[in-house]
Amino acid sequence: MQRFRPYRLNQTVRDKYAEVHLSAGDFVQPYFVVDGVGIRQELKSLAGVWHFSIDELLKELARLAKTGVDKILLFGVLDSERKDARGSQAYAPNNLVARAVAAIKRAYPQFTLITDVCLCGYTDHGHCGLTDGQNVLNAETLPLLADMAVTHARAGADIVAPSAMQDGQVAAIRAALSAADCAQTKILGYSAKYASNLYSPFREAAQSAPAFGDRRAYQMDYRNISQALPEVAADIEEGADIVMVKPAHTYLDIIQRVRTQFPQIPLAAYHTSGEYMLLKAAAQAGLCAEIPTALEILTAIKRAGADWLITYYAQTITEHL
Ligand code: PBG
Ligand code: ZN
Repeated sequence: MQRFRPYRLNQTVRDKYAEVHLSAGDFVQPYFVVDGVGIRQELKSLAGVWHFSIDELLKELARLAKTGVDKILLFGVLDSERKDARGSQAYAPNNLVARAVAAIKRAYPQFTLITDVCLCGYTDHGHCGLTDGQNVLNAETLPLLADMAVTHARAGADIVAPSAMQDGQVAAIRAALSAADCAQTKILGYSAKYASNLYSPFREAAQSAPAFGDRRAYQMDYRNISQALPEVAADIEEGADIVMVKPAHTYLDIIQRVRTQFPQIPLAAYHTSGEYMLLKAAAQAGLCAEIPTALEILTAIKRAGADWLITYYAQTITEHL
Protein backbone atom coordinates (compact mmCIF):
# COMPACT_ATOMS: atom_id res chain seq x y z
CA MET A 1 0.00 0.00 0.00
CA GLN A 2 1.25 3.41 -0.88
CA ARG A 3 0.63 5.90 1.90
CA PHE A 4 -0.63 9.38 0.97
CA ARG A 5 -2.41 10.48 4.09
CA PRO A 6 0.79 11.47 5.92
CA TYR A 7 1.15 14.32 3.40
CA ARG A 8 -2.20 15.71 4.53
CA LEU A 9 -1.97 15.01 8.24
CA ASN A 10 -2.16 18.58 9.50
CA GLN A 11 -1.88 22.17 8.31
CA THR A 12 1.91 22.29 8.66
CA VAL A 13 2.40 19.24 6.46
CA ARG A 14 -0.19 20.39 3.95
CA ASP A 15 1.50 23.77 3.70
CA LYS A 16 4.81 22.04 3.09
CA TYR A 17 3.44 20.11 0.12
CA ALA A 18 1.31 22.89 -1.35
CA GLU A 19 2.51 23.67 -4.86
CA VAL A 20 0.36 26.61 -5.89
CA HIS A 21 0.27 29.79 -3.83
CA LEU A 22 -1.69 32.95 -4.50
CA SER A 23 -0.06 36.27 -3.77
CA ALA A 24 -1.00 39.91 -4.23
CA GLY A 25 1.30 40.23 -7.24
CA ASP A 26 -0.79 37.70 -9.19
CA PHE A 27 -3.87 39.88 -9.22
CA VAL A 28 -5.32 42.56 -11.47
CA GLN A 29 -8.27 44.57 -10.09
CA PRO A 30 -10.72 45.90 -12.71
CA TYR A 31 -12.39 49.32 -12.21
CA PHE A 32 -15.22 51.12 -14.00
CA VAL A 33 -14.71 54.85 -14.24
CA VAL A 34 -17.47 57.37 -15.04
CA ASP A 35 -17.63 61.12 -15.65
CA GLY A 36 -18.59 63.45 -12.82
CA VAL A 37 -17.52 64.11 -9.25
CA GLY A 38 -18.29 62.30 -5.99
CA ILE A 39 -19.75 59.23 -7.67
CA ARG A 40 -19.38 55.84 -5.99
CA GLN A 41 -22.27 53.70 -7.05
CA GLU A 42 -22.49 49.96 -6.40
CA LEU A 43 -23.61 48.02 -9.46
CA LYS A 44 -26.90 46.10 -9.38
CA SER A 45 -25.47 43.45 -11.69
CA LEU A 46 -22.20 43.11 -9.76
CA ALA A 47 -22.43 43.35 -5.97
CA GLY A 48 -19.09 44.52 -4.56
CA VAL A 49 -18.18 46.44 -7.74
CA TRP A 50 -18.72 50.17 -8.21
CA HIS A 51 -18.89 52.94 -10.74
CA PHE A 52 -16.34 55.51 -9.60
CA SER A 53 -15.78 59.06 -10.75
CA ILE A 54 -12.05 59.82 -10.96
CA ASP A 55 -11.88 61.57 -7.56
CA GLU A 56 -13.58 58.63 -5.82
CA LEU A 57 -11.43 56.10 -7.66
CA LEU A 58 -8.34 57.85 -6.32
CA LYS A 59 -9.67 57.42 -2.76
CA GLU A 60 -10.48 53.75 -3.42
CA LEU A 61 -6.96 53.10 -4.70
CA ALA A 62 -5.54 54.06 -1.32
CA ARG A 63 -7.31 50.94 0.02
CA LEU A 64 -6.05 48.79 -2.83
CA ALA A 65 -2.49 50.00 -2.30
CA LYS A 66 -2.55 48.57 1.25
CA THR A 67 -3.28 45.04 -0.06
CA GLY A 68 -0.21 44.85 -2.27
CA VAL A 69 -2.24 44.44 -5.48
CA ASP A 70 -0.26 46.55 -7.93
CA LYS A 71 -2.07 46.12 -11.25
CA ILE A 72 -5.38 47.66 -12.26
CA LEU A 73 -7.51 47.37 -15.40
CA LEU A 74 -9.58 50.41 -16.33
CA PHE A 75 -12.85 50.54 -18.25
CA GLY A 76 -14.49 53.83 -19.18
CA VAL A 77 -18.28 54.00 -18.89
CA LEU A 78 -19.82 56.69 -21.08
CA ASP A 79 -23.23 58.38 -20.88
CA SER A 80 -25.39 57.11 -23.75
CA GLU A 81 -25.90 60.66 -25.14
CA ARG A 82 -22.17 60.85 -25.84
CA LYS A 83 -22.01 57.63 -27.86
CA ASP A 84 -22.03 57.61 -31.66
CA ALA A 85 -21.68 55.12 -34.50
CA ARG A 86 -17.88 55.52 -34.65
CA GLY A 87 -17.25 55.45 -30.90
CA SER A 88 -15.55 58.85 -31.10
CA GLN A 89 -15.10 59.24 -27.34
CA ALA A 90 -13.01 56.06 -27.24
CA TYR A 91 -10.11 57.83 -28.95
CA ALA A 92 -10.84 61.52 -28.36
CA PRO A 93 -7.73 63.21 -26.88
CA ASN A 94 -8.00 63.73 -23.13
CA ASN A 95 -11.08 61.50 -22.87
CA LEU A 96 -12.43 59.96 -19.68
CA VAL A 97 -9.96 57.06 -19.52
CA ALA A 98 -7.01 59.29 -20.47
CA ARG A 99 -7.88 61.70 -17.63
CA ALA A 100 -8.28 58.81 -15.20
CA VAL A 101 -4.94 57.34 -16.25
CA ALA A 102 -3.15 60.66 -15.85
CA ALA A 103 -4.68 61.28 -12.42
CA ILE A 104 -3.85 57.78 -11.16
CA LYS A 105 -0.28 57.95 -12.48
CA ARG A 106 0.23 61.22 -10.65
CA ALA A 107 -1.20 59.96 -7.34
CA TYR A 108 0.02 56.34 -7.45
CA PRO A 109 3.06 55.88 -9.65
CA GLN A 110 3.53 52.39 -8.18
CA PHE A 111 0.51 50.90 -9.97
CA THR A 112 0.76 49.17 -13.34
CA LEU A 113 -2.08 50.73 -15.32
CA ILE A 114 -3.83 48.59 -17.91
CA THR A 115 -6.59 50.03 -20.11
CA ASP A 116 -9.22 48.10 -22.05
CA VAL A 117 -9.13 48.97 -25.74
CA CYS A 118 -12.46 48.29 -27.41
CA LEU A 119 -15.23 50.38 -28.92
CA CYS A 120 -18.30 48.62 -27.47
CA GLY A 121 -18.61 50.99 -24.50
CA TYR A 122 -18.47 54.01 -26.83
CA THR A 123 -20.55 53.07 -29.89
CA ASP A 124 -24.31 53.73 -29.94
CA HIS A 125 -24.82 50.22 -31.39
CA GLY A 126 -22.68 48.56 -28.70
CA HIS A 127 -20.51 46.53 -31.05
CA CYS A 128 -16.75 46.30 -30.61
CA GLY A 129 -16.00 47.98 -33.96
CA LEU A 130 -17.51 49.89 -36.87
CA THR A 131 -20.49 48.17 -38.43
CA ASP A 132 -22.38 48.30 -41.72
CA GLY A 133 -25.57 47.72 -39.74
CA GLN A 134 -25.06 43.98 -39.75
CA ASN A 135 -21.40 42.98 -39.54
CA VAL A 136 -18.43 44.45 -37.71
CA LEU A 137 -15.94 45.70 -40.29
CA ASN A 138 -12.49 44.38 -39.41
CA ALA A 139 -10.17 46.54 -41.53
CA GLU A 140 -12.11 49.77 -40.87
CA THR A 141 -12.06 49.13 -37.11
CA LEU A 142 -8.28 48.66 -36.74
CA PRO A 143 -7.26 52.35 -37.06
CA LEU A 144 -9.82 53.34 -34.42
CA LEU A 145 -8.54 50.73 -31.95
CA ALA A 146 -5.00 51.94 -32.70
CA ASP A 147 -6.02 55.56 -32.01
CA MET A 148 -7.66 54.51 -28.77
CA ALA A 149 -4.51 52.69 -27.64
CA VAL A 150 -2.35 55.72 -28.47
CA THR A 151 -4.71 58.01 -26.52
CA HIS A 152 -4.29 55.78 -23.46
CA ALA A 153 -0.54 55.39 -23.92
CA ARG A 154 0.01 59.15 -24.23
CA ALA A 155 -1.90 59.64 -20.98
CA GLY A 156 0.49 57.22 -19.26
CA ALA A 157 -1.03 53.74 -19.54
CA ASP A 158 1.62 51.09 -18.97
CA ILE A 159 -0.27 48.38 -20.84
CA VAL A 160 -3.06 48.60 -23.40
CA ALA A 161 -5.38 45.61 -23.66
CA PRO A 162 -7.28 45.21 -26.94
CA SER A 163 -10.44 43.14 -26.37
CA ALA A 164 -12.31 43.71 -29.64
CA MET A 165 -11.29 40.36 -31.21
CA GLN A 166 -10.57 41.89 -34.62
CA ASP A 167 -7.91 40.15 -36.69
CA GLY A 168 -4.67 42.11 -36.76
CA GLN A 169 -5.59 44.39 -33.86
CA VAL A 170 -2.33 43.80 -31.97
CA ALA A 171 -0.21 44.55 -35.07
CA ALA A 172 -2.18 47.73 -35.79
CA ILE A 173 -1.75 48.92 -32.20
CA ARG A 174 1.94 48.00 -32.07
CA ALA A 175 2.61 50.00 -35.25
CA ALA A 176 0.60 53.00 -34.03
CA LEU A 177 2.36 53.00 -30.65
CA SER A 178 5.76 53.00 -32.35
CA ALA A 179 4.73 55.80 -34.69
CA ALA A 180 3.48 57.84 -31.72
CA ASP A 181 6.73 57.45 -29.78
CA CYS A 182 5.03 55.17 -27.28
CA ALA A 183 7.00 52.04 -28.12
CA GLN A 184 7.58 51.34 -24.42
CA THR A 185 3.86 50.79 -23.82
CA LYS A 186 3.10 47.08 -23.52
CA ILE A 187 0.23 45.18 -25.11
CA LEU A 188 -1.92 42.62 -23.32
CA GLY A 189 -3.86 40.76 -26.00
CA TYR A 190 -7.26 39.32 -25.18
CA SER A 191 -6.01 36.53 -27.42
CA ALA A 192 -8.37 33.60 -26.84
CA LYS A 193 -11.57 35.42 -25.94
CA TYR A 194 -14.69 33.35 -26.25
CA ALA A 195 -18.21 34.61 -27.00
CA SER A 196 -19.62 33.97 -23.55
CA ASN A 197 -22.88 34.31 -21.70
CA LEU A 198 -20.72 35.06 -18.68
CA TYR A 199 -20.10 38.66 -19.81
CA SER A 200 -23.66 39.81 -19.22
CA PRO A 201 -23.14 41.44 -15.77
CA PHE A 202 -20.15 43.30 -17.22
CA ARG A 203 -22.20 44.60 -20.13
CA GLU A 204 -24.70 46.05 -17.70
CA ALA A 205 -21.84 47.60 -15.71
CA ALA A 206 -20.12 49.01 -18.80
CA GLN A 207 -23.39 49.73 -20.61
CA SER A 208 -21.85 47.99 -23.60
CA ALA A 209 -24.37 45.36 -24.68
CA PRO A 210 -24.86 45.13 -28.47
CA ALA A 211 -28.08 46.84 -29.62
CA PHE A 212 -28.58 44.17 -32.30
CA GLY A 213 -27.19 40.69 -32.84
CA ASP A 214 -24.38 39.35 -30.67
CA ARG A 215 -20.60 39.02 -30.73
CA ARG A 216 -20.36 35.47 -32.06
CA ALA A 217 -19.10 36.63 -35.46
CA TYR A 218 -15.87 37.91 -33.88
CA GLN A 219 -15.36 36.30 -30.46
CA MET A 220 -14.48 32.58 -30.35
CA ASP A 221 -17.05 29.79 -30.36
CA TYR A 222 -16.93 27.99 -27.01
CA ARG A 223 -17.21 24.65 -28.78
CA ASN A 224 -13.87 25.27 -30.47
CA ILE A 225 -10.45 24.28 -29.11
CA SER A 226 -8.13 24.30 -32.10
CA GLN A 227 -8.28 28.05 -32.88
CA ALA A 228 -7.13 29.08 -29.40
CA LEU A 229 -3.43 28.33 -29.91
CA PRO A 230 -3.24 30.05 -33.34
CA GLU A 231 -5.05 33.07 -31.87
CA VAL A 232 -2.39 33.28 -29.15
CA ALA A 233 0.45 32.64 -31.61
CA ALA A 234 -0.82 35.42 -33.88
CA ASP A 235 -0.95 37.92 -31.00
CA ILE A 236 2.61 37.02 -29.96
CA GLU A 237 3.76 37.31 -33.57
CA GLU A 238 2.05 40.70 -33.86
CA GLY A 239 3.86 42.01 -30.80
CA ALA A 240 1.77 41.19 -27.72
CA ASP A 241 3.83 41.19 -24.50
CA ILE A 242 1.19 39.32 -22.50
CA VAL A 243 -1.64 37.10 -23.75
CA MET A 244 -4.98 36.19 -22.21
CA VAL A 245 -7.56 33.46 -22.02
CA LYS A 246 -11.10 34.58 -21.21
CA PRO A 247 -13.27 33.42 -19.43
CA ALA A 248 -11.08 31.60 -16.93
CA HIS A 249 -12.80 29.34 -14.39
CA THR A 250 -14.81 27.60 -17.13
CA TYR A 251 -11.88 27.53 -19.61
CA LEU A 252 -9.11 25.92 -17.53
CA ASP A 253 -8.41 23.45 -20.36
CA ILE A 254 -7.63 26.33 -22.71
CA ILE A 255 -5.40 28.02 -20.12
CA GLN A 256 -3.46 24.80 -19.67
CA ARG A 257 -3.02 24.28 -23.42
CA VAL A 258 -1.74 27.83 -23.91
CA ARG A 259 0.64 27.45 -20.98
CA THR A 260 2.01 24.16 -22.34
CA GLN A 261 2.40 25.45 -25.89
CA PHE A 262 3.93 28.82 -24.87
CA PRO A 263 5.84 28.22 -21.62
CA GLN A 264 7.60 31.61 -21.69
CA ILE A 265 4.87 34.13 -22.50
CA PRO A 266 3.20 35.88 -19.54
CA LEU A 267 -0.36 34.57 -19.45
CA ALA A 268 -3.37 36.35 -17.97
CA ALA A 269 -6.76 34.78 -17.31
CA TYR A 270 -9.94 36.82 -16.90
CA HIS A 271 -12.25 35.58 -14.16
CA THR A 272 -15.24 37.23 -15.78
CA SER A 273 -18.19 39.08 -14.34
CA GLY A 274 -20.47 36.07 -14.81
CA GLU A 275 -18.06 33.73 -13.06
CA TYR A 276 -17.85 36.24 -10.21
CA MET A 277 -21.63 36.67 -10.13
CA LEU A 278 -22.38 32.94 -9.96
CA LEU A 279 -20.23 32.63 -6.87
CA LYS A 280 -21.45 35.90 -5.35
CA ALA A 281 -25.10 34.96 -5.79
CA ALA A 282 -24.56 31.52 -4.27
CA ALA A 283 -22.72 33.07 -1.33
CA GLN A 284 -25.40 35.72 -0.79
CA ALA A 285 -28.03 32.98 -0.81
CA GLY A 286 -26.08 31.23 1.95
CA LEU A 287 -25.25 28.30 -0.31
CA CYS A 288 -21.46 28.44 -0.12
CA ALA A 289 -18.67 30.04 1.89
CA GLU A 290 -17.61 32.92 -0.33
CA ILE A 291 -13.95 33.48 0.51
CA PRO A 292 -12.81 29.84 0.76
CA THR A 293 -14.64 29.03 -2.48
CA ALA A 294 -13.17 32.04 -4.27
CA LEU A 295 -9.70 31.04 -3.05
CA GLU A 296 -10.19 27.54 -4.43
CA ILE A 297 -11.43 28.76 -7.83
CA LEU A 298 -8.70 31.37 -8.22
CA THR A 299 -6.04 28.84 -7.16
CA ALA A 300 -7.38 26.48 -9.85
CA ILE A 301 -6.93 29.19 -12.49
CA LYS A 302 -3.34 29.71 -11.39
CA ARG A 303 -2.77 25.94 -11.18
CA ALA A 304 -3.94 25.60 -14.80
CA GLY A 305 -1.10 27.94 -15.77
CA ALA A 306 -2.17 31.57 -15.51
CA ASP A 307 0.35 34.13 -14.21
CA TRP A 308 -2.08 37.02 -13.82
CA LEU A 309 -5.58 36.65 -12.43
CA ILE A 310 -7.90 39.43 -13.53
CA THR A 311 -10.77 39.28 -11.05
CA TYR A 312 -13.33 41.47 -9.29
CA TYR A 313 -12.19 39.58 -6.17
CA ALA A 314 -8.60 40.86 -6.35
CA GLN A 315 -8.80 43.33 -3.48
CA THR A 316 -11.06 41.22 -1.23
CA ILE A 317 -9.15 37.98 -1.70
CA THR A 318 -5.78 39.59 -1.13
CA GLU A 319 -7.04 40.84 2.21
CA HIS A 320 -7.56 37.15 3.15
CA LEU A 321 -4.23 35.68 2.00
C1 PBG B 1 -15.20 44.57 -24.01
C2 PBG B 1 -15.02 43.63 -22.86
C3 PBG B 1 -15.93 42.70 -22.33
C4 PBG B 1 -15.32 42.16 -21.21
C5 PBG B 1 -14.06 42.75 -21.10
N1 PBG B 1 -13.89 43.64 -22.14
C6 PBG B 1 -17.31 42.35 -22.73
C7 PBG B 1 -17.61 41.83 -24.07
O1 PBG B 1 -16.75 41.42 -24.83
O2 PBG B 1 -18.82 41.85 -24.39
C8 PBG B 1 -15.94 41.15 -20.27
C9 PBG B 1 -15.46 41.24 -18.86
C10 PBG B 1 -16.30 40.54 -17.86
O3 PBG B 1 -17.32 39.87 -18.15
O4 PBG B 1 -15.95 40.65 -16.67
N2 PBG B 1 -15.03 44.02 -25.26
ZN1 ZN C 1 -15.90 45.20 -26.98
